[in-house]
Amino acid sequence: MSRDLVELAKRRGYFFQSASAYGGVSGFYTYGPEGATLKDNVEDAWRERFQVREGHREIDAPTVMPEPVFEASGHLDTFDDMLVECPECGESHRADHLIEDNTDIEEAESIPISEVEDLIADHDLRCPNCDAELAGVPVEDFNLMFETNIGPGDSSPGYLRPETAQGIFVEFPQLAEYARNQLPFGITQIGKAYRNEISPRKSIIRVREFTQAELEHFIDPTEDEPPLDRVADVELTLYSAEEQEKDDGEYVTKTVREAVDEGIVHEWIAYYLGVGKQWYESIGVDMDRFRYRQHLPGERAHYSADCWDAESEVDGDWIEITGYSYRSDYDLGKHDEYSDDDFTVFKQYDEPKVVERATVDPDMSYLGPEFGGAAGDIADALETLAERDRKAFDGEEVAVEVGGEEYAIPTEKTGFSVEEVKETGEHVLPHVVEPSIGIDRVVYTVLDHAYETDEIEGETRTRLALEPAVAPTFVGVFPLMDKDGMGEVAREITDDLRAAGLDVTYDDSGNIGRRYRRQDEVGTPFCVTVDYESLEDDAVTLRERDSTEQVRVPISDLDDLLADLQAGETTFAELDAPAPEQ
Ligand code: GAP
Repeated sequence: MSRDLVELAKRRGYFFQSASAYGGVSGFYTYGPEGATLKDNVEDAWRERFQVREGHREIDAPTVMPEPVFEASGHLDTFDDMLVECPECGESHRADHLIEDNTDIEEAESIPISEVEDLIADHDLRCPNCDAELAGVPVEDFNLMFETNIGPGDSSPGYLRPETAQGIFVEFPQLAEYARNQLPFGITQIGKAYRNEISPRKSIIRVREFTQAELEHFIDPTEDEPPLDRVADVELTLYSAEEQEKDDGEYVTKTVREAVDEGIVHEWIAYYLGVGKQWYESIGVDMDRFRYRQHLPGERAHYSADCWDAESEVDGDWIEITGYSYRSDYDLGKHDEYSDDDFTVFKQYDEPKVVERATVDPDMSYLGPEFGGAAGDIADALETLAERDRKAFDGEEVAVEVGGEEYAIPTEKTGFSVEEVKETGEHVLPHVVEPSIGIDRVVYTVLDHAYETDEIEGETRTRLALEPAVAPTFVGVFPLMDKDGMGEVAREITDDLRAAGLDVTYDDSGNIGRRYRRQDEVGTPFCVTVDYESLEDDAVTLRERDSTEQVRVPISDLDDLLADLQAGETTFAELDAPAPEQ
């Protein structure tokens, strides 16, 4: 099936290996005319559901970012996969994938490297390329980011972003100002992300350049609640980490409300699992081949406090198509710590509060002569200690550590006091809830779940049963033959439908049955045929892809009718039905 779909994708202009004229490079794909439009339609549907309907706003940040961003985010140190290189042929492999492919072990990503090396030896795993033994070959961490230099020379290293999210986090101070410092607010971004995958595979499912559609929802965890009512009744198929760790663990079906009430899923994550499920279904993901699985603790990314993956079944395998992560204050905390900007939001109290604040006013005429060059740092350390632990000032002396050395200062020389001050608010580091959608994997899933074969008039037909809302070509227009004026009428209809905003293909080559089959394979939901009768009655035949049923429709009604069919406001079956009695 997979090979059939990949072959169809190439032949019908969905996607194909890039630069194949030069041998191609694995992990890079080009979307052809149909694929690029399908991808656009999926992205538009995502925008409509995750952004417009939720009241979030989109930004567009650069794909290259300077090194300090990724030092702070932790990607430089920890965004690694496990690499094992064959000593015979030099081919690189992902060690965890070798284990998953050759043993019963699932999710080997969460296993520590030393155990992975043992498993390779215990299972006598071999190089998939040349069959050489891999036992005893060291497994190493391999950083997935593509490095580059910004400007000439190598003094300013940069990286292609491995996730679109960092482009949102680093701009948080500006975005918070835009949002008038009011939590919660959500920022989306859709664009390319880059990962130097050790072994790209399965066409567009694991590639080195791909598109992510991400939402970073900034919340105050002590106050903000998701609008759960909107999706409370949506049913979710869930496989929690707890169930995965049991011998007889299993998937459960719960509504969003039940999943939250029973403590299976964090309320914010559950909200977006509900939104997500509605969205995947609307674009044609088969809900019998869809589920949510929670990450095991060792599997989570370095920034994630909890994560649930949306998984779809394609070609007999379950693949991750989206990560729903609770990133807590990890990212904003890191950028707050590493940069000069403030990544907090000032939360105004309803009423000013009177609070006690401990302060120091060290006697420098004592600290200077007594401690010399360390005096300034000792004064700073005393101030920090007063904020953190005022009890430390209860005794005769206060101990502080500076530069690894301990100093004892008489309490009376610290100028310690507790004052009452009026505060109008406090600085809060927002938490982040993140649905991160891999558009390429969603596109592949939509195609795979739409791929069907059936028999029409004794012939096997292949069709893509794509949802009208995402189908890249919406209608094919054909003259029965390009003669006696039928071609002119068909071309006029084509122009009118294009002017009405529909994606139309005009085709006058080959017999009509062949033209229908071509559009069935492309996934075009409807075809219009102009025949001799059309020249008499100004009507055409409208054919539906899935049922192959046909109805006669006046040319003057076509654009409104097709727009209604695309918007789901009417169905083809309703067109065929007799008009209700007046
Ligand atoms: N900002 C969070 C993040 O990047 P992730 O789970 O690493 O999380 C999110 O990636 C989604 O991006 C995945 O669920 C997957 O659909 C997609 N993705 C990740 N790596 C990919 C690759 N090499 N090729 C295609 N899609 C990929």
